[in-house]
Order: sequence, then C-alpha cells, then structure tokens
Amino acid sequence: MIKRIIPLFSLVLFWGCKGSSTPQVLINREGRNIIADSGMVVSAHSESSRIGVEILRKGGNAVDAAVAIEFALAVCYPEAGNIGGGGFMIYRDPSGRTDMVDYREKAPLKAHRDMFLDPEGSVVPGLSTDTRLASGVPGTVDGMINIHGKYGLLSFRDVIQPAIDLARNGFPLTDEQAADLNGFRQKFIDRNSILPAFVRNDPWKAGDTLKQPELAETLERIRDSGREGFYSGKTASLIAGEMEKGNGIIGLKDLAEYQAAFRAPVEGFYRGFRIVSAPPPSGGAVILLQILGMVEPFQLKDLGFHSSASIHLLVEAEKRAYADRAEYLGDPDFTEIPVSGLLDQGYLRKRMEDFREDTATPSSEIRAGHPLRHETEETTHYSVVDPMGGAVAATTTLNGTFGSGIVIGGAGFLMNNQMDDFSLKPGTPNIYGLSGGSVNSVAGGKRMLSSMTPVILEKDGKLFMVAGSPGGSTIPTTVMQVITNVVDFDMDIANAVDAGRFHHQWLPDRIEYEKTAFDRFTENKLKEIGHTLRERESLGRVNAIMVMPDGRLKAGADRRGLNSAYGY
Ligand code: GLY
Repeated sequence: MIKRIIPLFSLVLFWGCKGSSTPQVLINREGRNIIADSGMVVSAHSESSRIGVEILRKGGNAVDAAVAIEFALAVCYPEAGNIGGGGFMIYRDPSGRTDMVDYREKAPLKAHRDMFLDPEGSVVPGLSTDTRLASGVPGTVDGMINIHGKYGLLSFRDVIQPAIDLARNGFPLTDEQAADLNGFRQKFIDRNSILPAFVRNDPWKAGDTLKQPELAETLERIRDSGREGFYSGKTASLIAGEMEKGNGIIGLKDLAEYQAAFRAPVEGFYRGFRIVSAPPPSGGAVILLQILGMVEPFQLKDLGFHSSASIHLLVEAEKRAYADRAEYLGDPDFTEIPVSGLLDQGYLRKRMEDFREDTATPSSEIRAGHPLRHETEETTHYSVVDPMGGAVAATTTLNGTFGSGIVIGGAGFLMNNQMDDFSLKPGTPNIYGLSGGSVNSVAGGKRMLSSMTPVILEKDGKLFMVAGSPGGSTIPTTVMQVITNVVDFDMDIANAVDAGRFHHQWLPDRIEYEKTAFDRFTENKLKEIGHTLRERESLGRVNAIMVMPDGRLKAGADRRGLNSAYGY
C-alpha cells in the first residue's frame, strides 16, 4: 500500500545541536523510524512534516511548527486535516509547563436534542454524517490563532504561508490519496452544487498534482485578517450561504461567537511516568488513565506481551472505562464531569473487584461505576519536538473521512460531520459503534464528546514521549497500547507503534483485533474464557516521538498509512 517511503538524507543546512556546546552539522532526514539530534515532526503526510521542520529550522518553536502543520494538513491531507473541523493541542514548554487549547467544534445555536430523529423517534440514517446538518461550527482557525498568539515565536504570516503556497502550487498525490479521492468521487458530486477541486474527469493517479486555489484564497484571508478572515466577512458569508443550499443551520452568529478554549490538561501517573492528555470534551485522557490505573496493580510484563492473559486483563479494563464514558463524559461547559472521581485510585481498584482471571465479564453485566463527585473514521495526529525541548501533541479531525464531504462553495474547504459524535438518541450507536447517555445529548453551543487522546509523557521530570492517533473510539486504547508496549514490554518507539493492536469499547461486547496482533492459539484461549472476537483491517495510525537516553529523538511513524517523520 505504501509505495513512497524513502529515507532521505538531504543537504547540510543547519548548525547547532541540543545539549552540545560544539556546533555540529545537522542533516535533514526523512523516513518512518529516523533518529534526529535536534528537532522532529511526525505527521500524516510528508509535505506537512517537511513544512513543520522548515519552521523549526527558521527558529520557530513547537507551537509555530504545529500551527504550520495544522494548516498544511488542511491542504495536503484533506481526508482529516482541516480548517472546517476541530481538535485538541497540548503544549509542553521547555520548562515542563503544560497547556492545552480545545478547538473542538460546537453545535450551532439552533441545534436541539432530537434534531437527528424522525417523528417516530428513530435516528435518520445519514443525517448526522452526510449532510450540511452534520457539521459543528469549526474550531481549528480560532484554536490555531489563539495558541500561536500565546506561545508562537515567529509571525503568524510566516507559519501560515507554507500552507498557502502548497494549496496554490499543488502537491503530488500519493497512491492512497488518489484512491481515496476516486473512491469518494460520487459522494463529492452528489453532495456539492459546485464541483470541488477534488473532482476531475479522469481518475486521479499517484503523482498527479492537486491544486486548491479557492482554499489558497481562504487561507490568505486568514493570513491577512486573522480570526476575522474566517469567522466573519467573505469566508463566513460563504459558509452561511453553503448551509442555506441544504439543511445546514450554521449562521453568521454561530461563527462570530465561536471561541476556542484553553483548558488545563488532565494529568496522571503510570508506573512512575507522568502522562498529560486532553480533558473533556475529549474522553481521551480519562479513558486512557482509567485503563492504565485499573491495570497498574497487575504485573502486566509477567503476563507476557499479547498473551491471552495480558489481552484479557486490558480488555476487561477497557470495558469498564468505556461504560463510564457513556455515563459521565460530555462537554464540561454544560455538565459537571467528575474527572478526579473517575481517576481516583481507590475507585479504579473497586472497578476491577469483579475482574476474573479465567472468565470474560459480559458487557451486559458491566455498568458505569459510582465515582466520587469532587467537583469514522478519520482523524489525524501529529507530534513535534523542538530544539529547545518544547513539545506539541495535537489531534485534529473532520470526523469521517473527508468529513461530511461537503465543500464550502467558493472557499474550497471541507466541513466536518462531527455532530455524529453527540449521543443522538440514548443507546443508539454512532459511526464508531459508541453509545452514550444524556450527558452527551445535542444542544446549541455545546461541544460533542470526543475520544481524541494527544499525549505527552515525562520520565523523571524530563520529556519522554509525544504520541497520539486517529481512530475515533479506538484512539484511547491505541495510545494505551503504545504506552504499555514501551513501559511494560520495553519496546522502542518504532516497534511499539508498529505492533499489532486490539480494542474493546464495552458495547458492542467484542474484542476487535488486527491480524498481526496475536496468533490462533491466543485467539482460541480468549474464546475459551468467553470473549467474542472480530478481526479488522487496522486500528489507529500513531505518530510518535520518543526521547532516547542520550537526548536524541526517535520517530515512530505508523506503518499503517502515509505517515512521515522529518527531523534534523
Ligand atoms: N470524531 C472522533 C473523535 O473526536 O473522537
């Protein structure tokens, strides 16, 4: 599938080395599992990784690079990169201080609880995924402008310009992208009154250049007018006009009122490693830290990597964490979320009291716990480490592949179908098979619950790992396995990322697994103790960076997908 993985050693361009007083030539490297001395980017496309590293070489920090990557992904990876969607970005500055910007979409003000139900109360198929009504108010542009304003070192113009050039001049499509665009062609035609740049008469093939002049103009308006270039003026009118061509309800007021939010990341520990990740409205950190907290009392390493015993233990913890997700997680601006209760060690021990080593607990017997109240699949993740030791973990999404498939006419960008991440009707699963309760029901101005799990890990107070993944509901368990592969099973980051994966989300009650995850013997053992299994093609596409003991950086760009690491 992946035909263009070329380790590339380019010309000497830079002097300097982290932790070294002697100036040293640093070589630009590209590949999947490269090692770099100074700065590194791992993202879903080689163009965005290259652009991120160029920003670092210009003296930008991890936030400058991240903002440049985010806009570049909107051009070169329209499957998930976006300005019509949203995400979560965590920044750890060189002194170890952490912050997070939540640029998750919000439901439009006219949204209401039953908007995706027919008169009989059933969910109308496709309404929350394939139509103008499927979109939340996009958050990416405000999120990028805010985090850049707070932490960036370079000018905003410097960090957005590479994406504008990429949109105007075009870039060569990979095999997989040409196939994605050809596969989606009819949907683009059916859902758009003006044909977008993604549609042409002949089928796309690898190496063809995709140019997006309207997107370039939209990005120029953002470059020249900042927030106003998107949330008001021409772009806002184009968005509102596009909504009126169908059943869309995003209006000028929704756009004018959208604000990204800085929130304190959720932090926890696993076997001495400090883990920093995204709080509600993402369920990512809570699910990840609940699973890790539930398995920490067990000697996972002694059970053996991907033995039936270790898979059984992790899956039983996953079921309990996802049962809590459905009951307790939603938008913290609308409901009090008992995060500290859900992560309390005593609570997590109690959750595992009915764990049996020799029998699967059916999901029908697992209910959400009672924590103390102290108070599609396309998404993409990128990781950045800068030469000063700053780091960014960011996950961004349109929700489904190419989002709703609806391109804002005249503005050239795809809209998300993130409304499907709300619980449309209690107990009815969304495109990820996730069911939820009233805490995540639709309401105007509310953020839909996410599973995005960008993580930054520290060991002994020093940066240790940056990671994250797409995969909807499977994101937290994917990230969890990368962490346990490194922490419990002593893998380096490349092996930890490439290892086969499995996933359980309480409902439906089954283990989903990749063919490479375990052998027939293990499969049979799991069935014997009561698990149901279903093989699937792949789980997640992790982009990770690990700091090696000597201070150099090692990339883990997932073998699943186009992922590319650049470093120097
Ligand atoms: N749309 C996928 C997620 O936010 O988890």
